[in-house]
Amino acid sequence: MTAVSQGSWQPAGAADDVWEGEMTFQQLGDGTSVLLVNTDGAVRAFHGLCPHQENSLEDADFDGEIITCLAHMWEFDARSGAGVNPTTTCLPEYPVEIRDGELYVHTSSAPPEKEAGPE
Ligand code: FES
Repeated sequence: MTAVSQGSWQPAGAADDVWEGEMTFQQLGDGTSVLLVNTDGAVRAFHGLCPHQENSLEDADFDGEIITCLAHMWEFDARSGAGVNPTTTCLPEYPVEIRDGELYVHTSSAPPEKEAGPE
């Protein structure tokens, strides 16, 4: 069995598949789950687990500006990952590159820490 390497560039599909104002959830090759969000003409990759109680954000709501975790309705700004409600949290963001029309996400070697906030 091959060891999973973290902290490397992971392919995440065609850039054209993430349209302006859309969000998709993906499990990358190294096991990291990410939200791919296209806002303001740029695709961003955020950690795919909510910092509140680490629920998957696969079914999160997205209105073009705000990502909402449906478990307890925490909200995050899709341009920065900053917490909107509550403001004391954030979605960790991973670097994204587009190479020959394909998205690559650089996953970090250390998983983002769970953050404190209102229950
Ligand atoms: S797990 Fe996302 S708001 Fe609670």
